[in-house]
Amino acid sequence: MLLDTGCWLVFIILSTQLLAPISRHLDPSNQHPMKLIAKTLYGLEKTLADELIDLGAKVVQQVNRAVIFEGNKDFLYKVNYCVRSAMSVLMQFSEFQIRSADDLYRNSLKLNWSNYLDPEHTFSIVPVVNSPMFSHTGYPGLILKDAIADWFRQKAGKRPSVNTKDPDIVFNLHISNERVAISLDSSVIPLYKRGYRKDQGSAPINEILAAGIVLISGWKGETPFLDPMCGSGTIPIEAAMIASHIPPGRFRKFYGFQRWKDYDENLFVQVKKESEAKALNPGVKIAGSDISDDAVLIASANVESAGLSDIISIGKDDFRDVRTLDSEGIIIMNPPYGERIKTTDDLYSMIGSSLKHNFAGHTAWLITSDKESLKHVALKPAIKTTLFNGALECILVKYEMYQGSKKNQ
Ligand SMILES: C[S@@+](CC[C@H](N)C(=O)[O-])C[C@H]1O[C@@H](n2cnc3c(N)ncnc32)[C@H](O)[C@@H]1O
Repeated sequence: MLLDTGCWLVFIILSTQLLAPISRHLDPSNQHPMKLIAKTLYGLEKTLADELIDLGAKVVQQVNRAVIFEGNKDFLYKVNYCVRSAMSVLMQFSEFQIRSADDLYRNSLKLNWSNYLDPEHTFSIVPVVNSPMFSHTGYPGLILKDAIADWFRQKAGKRPSVNTKDPDIVFNLHISNERVAISLDSSVIPLYKRGYRKDQGSAPINEILAAGIVLISGWKGETPFLDPMCGSGTIPIEAAMIASHIPPGRFRKFYGFQRWKDYDENLFVQVKKESEAKALNPGVKIAGSDISDDAVLIASANVESAGLSDIISIGKDDFRDVRTLDSEGIIIMNPPYGERIKTTDDLYSMIGSSLKHNFAGHTAWLITSDKESLKHVALKPAIKTTLFNGALECILVKYEMYQGSKKNQ
């Protein structure tokens, strides 16, 4: 009997702990590390973790399509401004376990919402839900909205309203089975929206993926760079920004944290100044070319808008006619895919033979979702890895074109 009571006690204590919401605060004094989560595309987790460590992140943990780390307010600003391979950065302020929809409401009501917004503010909730407790993703979002509104009605007699178009504060509600995490979105506008794109071709690569591939390649501006199918110029622009140490945030007008209650404009100005101080002219050839007149016009406009006209040259060329005088260099390209099989087969075999015959001494990285056509390149990949461009599964391959005849070409 005594044992039974003991067991119940342990059970009650454990389940109370399980259900108690953990609550963290903003970092008004810039003294207290916050739990930060940078989200990315599948396959870029390690690249992002390495970038965050380079920027100075502490306690870095890779998870599926995200990296968790710690940082003060100035580091949160720095990551948003400088990171190249993240989609957005969240500040997680609460996590708890639930066993029902009611638990979500009750635990949310225990949080001090005035830490994050006032009744005059507007907010929206982005729910990311994977739990058998909820069949509709929108439902837990509505529960959280009700809890926030009821909390303010009880404490202040008036409540902040929801605005999905241009909210002051965006909450991210993540539910995975019984685990709930609530965060503030410090980016709001996804970080791939760098702000330099004036126009886009028919299939532009995501800026984060383009930067991620350049980072994976390890190229930092030591050798000439070419994207011979550059479309709107995303890959050479991201490469030039890496080689020039230009922060990707240079052209952005807005980050979510600028509307937070603890926003410190002077601190952000300081962070930008320090990040910009490292920019330099890489003094290396960076080029893009494309067979299409329209692509050349669009790429040139984007290069100009990024302020990189002195660093990147854009030209019109069929890849089969492109030659180089350089004895080494890097090629990163994103050929067309999803066209009629015959056309792409011919195109990919032309890519293979052009690389082999015209770019000896070079390293080539090619990203495509067209696995079948890729076989027609007929070169042996030194590296082959899977990446996602949004929902589209892609393969990234690396080819080494050795000088002279090599057994593995
Ligand atoms: C998938 S798009 C590249 C998109 C680009 N990465 C961007 O961000 O906009 C493929 C590009 O290859 C170009 N292309 C197709 N065949 C070509 C060839 N033989 N030589 C050069 N460019 C070619 C197309 O005009 C198109 O712009």
